[in-house]
Parts: sequence; C-alpha cells; structure tokens
Amino acid sequence: MALISSLSSQSSPLIGNESRPVMSYNAITEPSVPASAKSHGSSNDAAHLHSTGSLLDESAWRFTPSRIMMFLSLTLAALMTSLMLLTKPVPSDILKDGVGRLPAMGYNTWNAYHCDINATIILETSRLMKSLGLTDVGYTWMNIDDCYSEKKRNAKGDIVAHKTRFPSGMNYLTDQIHNLGMKAGIYSDSGWFTCQLYPGSFQNEARDVRMFQEWGFDYLKYDNCAVPFDDVTRQGVKGRYQRIAEAIASVSRTSGKPPMQLSLCQWGRDQPWLWARRFGQSWRTTDDIGPHWDAITSILTQNQYISWASDFYGHNDMDILEVGNGDLTYEEAKTHFTAWALMKSPLLISAHLPTVSNETLEILTNHEIIAINQDPVIGTAVTPFRWGNNWNWTPDYAHPATFWSGESQNGTVFMLINSLNHPTDLAFNLTESPWIRAGRQYSVRDLWTHTDNGTAIRTFKARKVPAHGVVALLLQDAGNEPEGMYPPCAVLEWCMSENGTRIDQ
Ligand code: GAL
Repeated sequence: MALISSLSSQSSPLIGNESRPVMSYNAITEPSVPASAKSHGSSNDAAHLHSTGSLLDESAWRFTPSRIMMFLSLTLAALMTSLMLLTKPVPSDILKDGVGRLPAMGYNTWNAYHCDINATIILETSRLMKSLGLTDVGYTWMNIDDCYSEKKRNAKGDIVAHKTRFPSGMNYLTDQIHNLGMKAGIYSDSGWFTCQLYPGSFQNEARDVRMFQEWGFDYLKYDNCAVPFDDVTRQGVKGRYQRIAEAIASVSRTSGKPPMQLSLCQWGRDQPWLWARRFGQSWRTTDDIGPHWDAITSILTQNQYISWASDFYGHNDMDILEVGNGDLTYEEAKTHFTAWALMKSPLLISAHLPTVSNETLEILTNHEIIAINQDPVIGTAVTPFRWGNNWNWTPDYAHPATFWSGESQNGTVFMLINSLNHPTDLAFNLTESPWIRAGRQYSVRDLWTHTDNGTAIRTFKARKVPAHGVVALLLQDAGNEPEGMYPPCAVLEWCMSENGTRIDQ
C-alpha cells in the first residue's frame, strides 16, 4: 500500500502543473493542502525512494514471473491513481460536511429592496420574520444582498460597511440577527466589482471571507459581474468560483469555524449543475427572476431538464422567491412556491414584510410543502414525467412540463401545473411515475387543501385546476389494488399471461 501511495504522490505535482493551473494562484495566502496531508506525502516519498532503491539492485533486473506481475500491477496502480487525480479538481476538504445539506430557507434583501437597504430595514425584517412565524417554519437565514458597503476598500484593503446605512457596523447587526435565533448571510462577487459596482472579491478572496466571518456571517452569495480579463485570470467562470471555495476552506482551517455556506450566483452560465457542487451548496440556474408569470414559466422551463441535479449538499437555485411581489396572482404565487420547494431550490423570501398579506403568509408557511423541500431522508427533487401541453422534452417558455413526480420520506410526491389561461382537468396514470408500484393502490393527500382525498387506483384526475394553478399530492402505498382489475397490466405494452397469451394485441 505504501508503495502504491508513493507512486501517486510522485505523479501528483506533474499532473497538478499540467492540468490544474488554477490551483497555483497566489492571492490566497494559506496553503491549500493541510499540514497533515503534507507530512503524509513526505513519508510516502521516503517509502518510494527506499523501494525504487531496491529496484536498482542487480538481482532486480532478473525477470521472474512474480517480478513481472509486481511491475504490471504497480504500473496499473500508478495509471489508475493518475487518472483519479486528473478528475479530482479540488482538495477534498472543500466539501463542507454538515454545511448546506438541505436547501437554504430564509430572507434575501434583493427582490424587495434592491440597493435601498440599511440596518433598520434589515433588523425590522428580521423581527418580522420571527413575529410572523416565518422562522418557526424554517426560514432562518437573513441574507444581505448587493450594496451594503462603501464603494472603496479602506487603506488596509478591507471592505468597509456603508457608514451611513450601517452606522453601528456589521457585528452589531449580526448580533441582533443571532439574538432572534437567525443566521446571517452576505454577498460578494467573483470579479473586480459587484453588479452594482461595489468592491468584488477577486484576488481578495481569503481576506474577504475572513472579514465576513469576523463580521458574523456564515453564508456567502457570490455573483458573476465585472469579470477580469482573460490574461489576468487565465481561467473561466469555474476557476473564479474555485478560488472562493478554496478561500472558504482555507479560512475555516485557520479559524476553526465551520466553512461559510457558498451560494454560486452565475446565472446558469457554463452548466454549473455539472460542477458547482464541488465548490458550494447551491448554484443559480438562470438569469434573474421577476415578479410576473412569464418569469416563473421561463425559469421552470429551463429547470425542467436539470432537476435531477439537486440532492443533499448541492441544489439548483431557481432564484429568490417573488411570492408577495409584483403582479403574481394567488394561484401563480402558489405554483411558484410549490415548484421551487418541490424542485429543492433554496427558499429565500423577498417580500416587503411590513405590509405582507395573509395570503402571502399562508403560501410561504405551507408546512406540508416545506416538509418536502426540507426532507431529511430524500434529497432529490421532483422531475417531469409528462410534458402535457407540448411535446415531451420540447422547451416552450410559456408551457413548462405539466406532470411531475419524485420521492419523499413519506411517499411519492406529485406536482401538476396548469400553465393554460383557463381551468382544466389534469389526469395521469399512476405508473407513469417511476416511483409508483404497479398492482398497488395509493392513499392521496392534498398538500394545499390539507385533506386526505381517498384512494387512487391506477389513475388520478384533478378536476378544474385553476388557470396557472398547481396541485401538490402525496401518495402513500395502501396495499394491493382490488382483485380482478382489468386489463391485468396497468401498462399494456407486451402484457402477457404465463401461457403466452398477449393481452395488448
Ligand atoms: C445579480 C443577481 C441578483 C442580485 C444582483 C445584485 O447578478 O442575479 O440576484 O444579487 O446581482 O446586484
């Protein structure tokens, strides 16, 4: 074993230099390999020298069968280790055990306030999160978005909280937030500036992460504006996010605090669902949301192809909620909220809480929907099983998929979306969902009316689903379906009796 590891430690620098240039940037001062890993490496080097020394003995060059076997297996092991290193882009301690396992729930300032934020608004909103019962159902993050700082760093190079909007500083603010039982999140950017041209964190990653944690923040939304030139970065979007991930890991190692939760905000550029879970716990999948129905259907349409990508510790972020904002109707807001929750997106409220309506609160506090989003046992999202209004797999930005299902710890979840401008019945065969067993019947729980709606056998029909409305159901196995059901297979294709009679012809 020692010899095999020694070969990997010998190969590693070469592979690192050739194919992982982003690992060698110098803005982050702390070493990215822990001391323990380093000493492990050098003892392996010693083992390696010792072993290769013995191969130089005269007797080593005699080809006995066992020497040939040993040579072949060492070569194979070296090759496999090299391949593993080639596909492993970051140190394993960047994976943040225990941080961000479930989708984040809380508040974000952007949709409600844009740049008009200050300590008073944030503290009033935090108090309302508590008094309106939103923290009780799980919305515990209070996240500050863009525009909280001065436009320039101070002489030491640190970001400075805006002096008039945050006169008592960030520690005061986060102390108040923590006293309410909430956690606090902050925002920065992977470029020179944020999208509103406040300081970004490029080349200041470790300094800023350290400062954010000293200020009392445990969550970082990280944006994608003001991108440095290629001859500065020599890397793409992914590399800029790797820099902050490594800074977070590095600062955590030196501070002893858990790593900050990282929310990548690069609007779905470069397919983050394929790589971002190496660096953070959520990644935006689209451009910015707006408080109107066509934004909701557009985001749904784009996400319907990638909803497989969410699971524990890594979530498609469909953007901050618009429930309670703009011109979304009650039905549209319910559909928006249901889809975001069941697709395991972070749920960040951004309504004006001092004037929030009871309808908005009723939607945001639907505990049966939230329970699916925060399922501690099943991390995956609902996915479409039939498109409905257009051809399967075909994008139509006004008509995302109609029929969706997924697993949960308590049964199979169904989501039916009526994207039409008039009410309609929505019917499906239960076994269209891969999470349903043929030959069984299912009890039906409606997650919006909060009622048990009888037993479904083979099919289910939701009647008169309102225009732009949603149905959310939880189906639980209720035993074998009644005897003598005909036809004998719910799915007729190649349905055959034991004696060879085909039922489908
Ligand atoms: C955008 C981001 C928004 C908000 C805004 C702030 O890039 O998508 O959610 O953070 O920047 O300027």
